[in-house]
Amino acid sequence: MEPDLSVEFAGIKLPNPTILASGILGVSAEIMVRAARAGAGAVVTKSFNRDGREGYHNPSFIEVPGGFLNALGIPNPGMREMREEVRTVAKAGVPVIASVFGFDASEFAEAAAMGEEGGALAVELNVSCPHVEEVGVEIGQRPARVAEVTRAVKAKVRVPVLVKLTPNVTSIEEIAKAAESGGANGITAINTALGMAIDVDAAKPTLGGTVGGLSGPALHSLAVRCVFQVKQAVKIPIVGVGGISDWRGAVEMMMAGASAVQIGTAVTNHGVEVFREITTGMSKFLTENHYGSVGEIVGLALR
Ligand SMILES: Cc1cc2nc3c(=O)[nH]c(=O)nc-3n(C[C@H](O)[C@H](O)[C@H](O)COP(=O)(O)O)c2cc1C
Repeated sequence: MEPDLSVEFAGIKLPNPTILASGILGVSAEIMVRAARAGAGAVVTKSFNRDGREGYHNPSFIEVPGGFLNALGIPNPGMREMREEVRTVAKAGVPVIASVFGFDASEFAEAAAMGEEGGALAVELNVSCPHVEEVGVEIGQRPARVAEVTRAVKAKVRVPVLVKLTPNVTSIEEIAKAAESGGANGITAINTALGMAIDVDAAKPTLGGTVGGLSGPALHSLAVRCVFQVKQAVKIPIVGVGGISDWRGAVEMMMAGASAVQIGTAVTNHGVEVFREITTGMSKFLTENHYGSVGEIVGLALR
């Protein structure tokens, strides 16, 4: 018998534990639906706020050893347009999570409410963007602000709220506890790590935004460590993300404590087929090791 790949966590039910990470395939509904048809259990939208943003000048996405640096500046068309994209994805029968951000707690809450109105089954709070001043890590590095933003969103929406954490902190456990105390239903860990590259010929930073977020394989072991630590600090479920590119990376993340995983850069590298490759590989691993369901491996490495 095939092992059961379905997962249920934080009030979210998915056919399998792989989710398209935020920001990877842009803002269009069509491409999010394509990821789900290719095997993703759910999709997360590009992060959006009340009035949208233009983003930074190029180069904003560059390859570095083991991954990529991006400093896009969270370009998005704003919450009203994104509500319609969410609606289109939801109407296609695809489980969709709305990723939102803001300059203050009330903007987070307004954007989250728009996502819910569009039919998102959950919202994810991006308090962790490393390259846009005031909206990202300035919130995500401060426990009191994380709790405040989470509380404001919880007061406004009925769907589950996931809080996406930054690894650019001294203690990720402390921030996870703050999100939990604010009423978060789950944690997403992690967003990109802050990095930079220098153009040695020009003798200046390569990225238009100077610093950027590191993603891809170089981030993976850091992400596994974060999930493992957060798992021990809070009772709410975790969605693991960072450098997963094959079934082994996904299984590793779940054994570290993640109830589901998100995949970003690997989709850029290998295409949307990566979702089916991962679920097929996971299924084979579970069968060979006599697990009846994927839920059985969650947190196994903490025993
Ligand atoms: C080009 C690009 C854009 C991203 N945009 C967002 C975003 O809008 N919101 C967000 O929460 N994370 C964003 N991320 C972070 C990813 O969702 C993910 O947390 C990170 O890339 C680590 O996973 P990966 O190594 O599988 O890519 C972005 C990452 C990349 C590479």
